[in-house]
Amino acid sequence: MTSVCRPEADLWRELGCPTLVFNAPMSGHTDPEFAARAERHGAGMVFLGGYPGDEPTYRASRRVARRRPEFALPPERLPDELSRTDVSVPIAVNVRITDPNAAAELAGDLAELVDVFEVNAHCRQPEIVEAGAGEALLEEPERLAELVEAVAEHDLHVSVKLRGPHPGYRAALRELRDAPVDILHVDAMKPGEPTYDLRYVRQAARLDAEVIGNNSVRTPEDVDNMFEAGATAVSVGRPLLDGDWDLLERLAGHARLEE
Ligand SMILES: Cc1cc2nc3c(=O)[nH]c(=O)nc-3n(C[C@H](O)[C@H](O)[C@H](O)COP(=O)(O)O)c2cc1C
Repeated sequence: MTSVCRPEADLWRELGCPTLVFNAPMSGHTDPEFAARAERHGAGMVFLGGYPGDEPTYRASRRVARRRPEFALPPERLPDELSRTDVSVPIAVNVRITDPNAAAELAGDLAELVDVFEVNAHCRQPEIVEAGAGEALLEEPERLAELVEAVAEHDLHVSVKLRGPHPGYRAALRELRDAPVDILHVDAMKPGEPTYDLRYVRQAARLDAEVIGNNSVRTPEDVDNMFEAGATAVSVGRPLLDGDWDLLERLAGHARLEE
């Protein structure tokens, strides 16, 4: 077992994360019950969502929910939903949202309930993208920055989830350089291959934010590769849907934060 001790893990220390391995958000699955399970199996922070955060994304989520498991909860019910989360590790919520005014209001309502508000600039479901959220924000980096500013008015940490191979990725990082973003959650997918491309992690690590490395992190060596590329934490998604909680335990044990 390796203990990871890195000066750049300051935010995770401040939040009190026991390890640097988190579950990744997966809409329709990562609800308060899932979060409690993830904590039991070693997650150092739990991700819930992605939930719709405004009217356009709520309407879009209802349409997506006709064909796959999806959180299609009215945004005004999100505080109640999240208040059911019974964990002692920090809580992050991934939100599909397009309207900065709605983001400011929702962040205010959630500030007491979560530690991290993650703006989803990642989802590629056509309905969500048509609504102006998810990866549509990578085409409109100014609006992404406005959403970040709106959330940052409140007392929580701001994260942005991005997809590395999207053509707008570099421009979005440039726009976020001067925005009050605390965390960049990078899906470093290598299209067509079950692995990651560390270039996306390296590019994000040039900004003054913590980087969570994501996609195909399955072994302690993958965790180390992400850390060497500049990530200070990693997240794991699909294996948990298949019930591979041992994987989360193994990786969490590998990346424990020293007291
Ligand atoms: C069923 C499913 C739903 C997902 N929903 C979301 C979501 O709502 N928000 C998000 O940022 N990523 C979402 N993702 C992407 C994951 O967070 C993660 O980026 C992706 O699965 C790659 O990581 P992995 O290789 O560890 O699974 C979803 C993935 C799956 C499989």
